[in-house]
Amino acid sequence: MATLFRALVLLLTLSDLFVGMLSLGVGINYGQIANNLPSPSRVALLLRSLNISRVKLYDADPNVLGAFSNTNVDFVIGLGNEYLLTMTDSSKAQTWIGQHVQPYLSQTKITCIVVGNEILSGNDTRLMSYLLPAMQTVHDALGNLSLNNQVYVTTAHSLAILGSSFPPSSGTFREDLAQYIQPMLNFHSQANSPFLINAYPYFAYKDNPGQISLAYALFQPNPGMIDPNTNLKYDNMLYAQIDAVYAAIKAMGHTDVQVKISETGWPSKGDANEAGATPENAGLYNGNLLQRIEAQQGTPANPSVPVDIYVFALFNEDLKPGPASERNYGLYYPDGTPVYNIGVQGYLPHIDYSSAKKNNHQVGGWWAGDVGGRGRRRREILESLRVFFLFMGRSLR
Ligand SMILES: *[C@@H]1O[C@H](CO)[C@@H](O)[C@H](O)[C@H]1NC(C)=O
Ligand SMILES: *[C@@H]1O[C@H](CO)[C@@H](O)[C@H](O)[C@H]1NC(C)=O
Ligand SMILES: *[C@@H]1O[C@H](CO)[C@@H](O)[C@H](O)[C@H]1NC(C)=O
Repeated sequence: MATLFRALVLLLTLSDLFVGMLSLGVGINYGQIANNLPSPSRVALLLRSLNISRVKLYDADPNVLGAFSNTNVDFVIGLGNEYLLTMTDSSKAQTWIGQHVQPYLSQTKITCIVVGNEILSGNDTRLMSYLLPAMQTVHDALGNLSLNNQVYVTTAHSLAILGSSFPPSSGTFREDLAQYIQPMLNFHSQANSPFLINAYPYFAYKDNPGQISLAYALFQPNPGMIDPNTNLKYDNMLYAQIDAVYAAIKAMGHTDVQVKISETGWPSKGDANEAGATPENAGLYNGNLLQRIEAQQGTPANPSVPVDIYVFALFNEDLKPGPASERNYGLYYPDGTPVYNIGVQGYLPHIDYSSAKKNNHQVGGWWAGDVGGRGRRRREILESLRVFFLFMGRSLR
């Protein structure tokens, strides 16, 4: 009996482990500032082949939400900056939810609304003053429909809202933004919604290629940095950025707000003055990042909270303005060809949309390694546990 018990404990531990590995996937940003992207239903096939089940949109595109009905993909949708003023009006917020969210909820999982993008690092103080009232009103409108526990409300910030970020434990927000951020943190704490940041070690590297270690920015082996206040060691820049945001939040009196990464990525191509934008570096950044996510790693200051990340982005977007890098963050070209390989993670599959449906079951879940095999194994273990308990139940009776 003791042996049987030990075997049972081992089985339970193993199955826990499998559940853990399978439950946290990486998310992806599905930006659509392009004139050559495949239809949303093809994109649904592509994402299914990649076993990506978390997608972030910048709007609430009904074509996308419709194409993903009954797909089990979890959506973060966006309310663009141009909606902020409108959304401070209760009846307009309620109408928007009634038209853009509620009708899809029975078929498409929408779990979050991001109200505005990078408002506080911009220069429009009117928008800054609308931001929290708009978030609050959208949250209240969801509450009136009893959806506020199903769909959470937040906004996404650029790292430029930080006044200082190194060492991470001394992270603070810019002083002029405290008036906006303090009440926003109170909102997050009450609404139990996360604080989102768009974090790009690439920007830091590009601005100072002579000083910043490329290996540190790319999660490659490197000596790392020690935070002199905490003695914690950082072996990559992204984790230092995340912990700097946690420290800034703590300096405002909150330890109850989770930080998540709404965007991170690395461009595969850039202008002559954009150092480091190469397919090799982009493959290393994203491949190494995925390994960390698979390992469910937390940051040095928050080791028990696995980093939660949406990679930027699914496709290269040819109509994005700005330097060449802006149009080259995609993992894929619009025709389904991978832009580069993801290093140790293996190869990104080429997606032939016309046969994607037929071959779908054969394409591995590269984001999570051999997840198919592990999933099968887990089902087998759970099945043998079920049989075991059935048997125990009978013999006890
Ligand atoms: C504010 O930012 C926008 C774009 O981000 C820019 O076009 C505009 O010139 C800026 N205005 C001021 C007053 O800095
Ligand atoms: C929520 O419902 C209350 C009571 O009906 C109403 O006064 C308020 O305007 C509604 N708020 C929103 C944001 O819809
Ligand atoms: C796909 O990923 C999910 C978790 O993100 C996991 O539950 C599932 O087993 C995976 N399936 C395959 C075929 O990899």
